[in-house]
Amino acid sequence: MNIDDDAPLLTVNGVGKRYGNRIGCADVSFDLWPGEVLAIVGESGSGKTTLLNCLSTRLEPDAGSICYRTRGGEMRDVYQMREAERRFLMRTDWGFVHQNPADGLRMTVSAGANVGERLMAVGERHYGDIRGKAIDWLGRVEIASDRVDDQPRAFSGGMRQRLQIARNLVTHPRLVFMDEPTGGLDVSVQARLLDLLRSLVAELGLSAIVVTHDLAVARLISHRMMVMKDGRVIEHGLTDRVLDDPHAPYTQLLVSSILQV
Ligand SMILES: Nc1ncnc2c1ncn2[C@@H]1O[C@H](COP(=O)(O)OP(=O)(O)OP(=O)(O)O)[C@@H](O)[C@H]1O
Ligand SMILES: [Mg+2]
Repeated sequence: MNIDDDAPLLTVNGVGKRYGNRIGCADVSFDLWPGEVLAIVGESGSGKTTLLNCLSTRLEPDAGSICYRTRGGEMRDVYQMREAERRFLMRTDWGFVHQNPADGLRMTVSAGANVGERLMAVGERHYGDIRGKAIDWLGRVEIASDRVDDQPRAFSGGMRQRLQIARNLVTHPRLVFMDEPTGGLDVSVQARLLDLLRSLVAELGLSAIVVTHDLAVARLISHRMMVMKDGRVIEHGLTDRVLDDPHAPYTQLLVSSILQV
């Protein structure tokens, strides 16, 4: 890891979201640094997805602020941006990898078009260039070039997830959000996908926020982790430290019950 930048990419302050009387997440604050991968872990219902959706501007929080450092170096509150600016950010600087690839892909257009579409969104117009880059990216996620004209509905679950990753990374985003990226896959496919993700993230110097309920995934992919319970962050630190020497009793329980399986 090479974090040579001396300002955070994302600064999150006191973020909270309620659903009526129920807490989705509460009082979450942290900084994310360039090139850093942060895992958000916790049991089902602990608020991981709610928080990720708030951070990625898919769900407006009712408390706190989220500031993002743009390519121009300016710190901007993402919820103070105009809708068009925010959408541009999501198409270009940010990526979002859904747990279910069908939510992040267009299932009835070709694999090549799924990747090419993101390039067109950032202004690429030359058909040959777009197709060439799409094929290159399919290769990087280990999808054979002769599948470029196939629709993702003809792909396996693991291939769909790799296609979704290619679609997100082709524009060289600076920050990628992922919600259980390996969630629906069987174990051997998960392991390969994680390996691939880890090397792409490192190679591109990406920052990422990855939601997972799987501590082994957090161990493999993240530098830092936050443990959530009942919507709140109860422990936050370097991944190895949290997993090897958990401070909060709840984290101790989580680590002992899961890692010994
Ligand atoms: N749309 C909604 N309306 C009402 N309550 C919601 C809604 N979405 C989430 N919640 C509640 O907010 C809390 C946090 O849910 P969230 O989906 O963020 O958890 P999670 O950690 O992602 O869980 P999982 O691991 O099962 O995906 C839960 O109590 C949940 O019931
Ligand atoms: Mg969730």
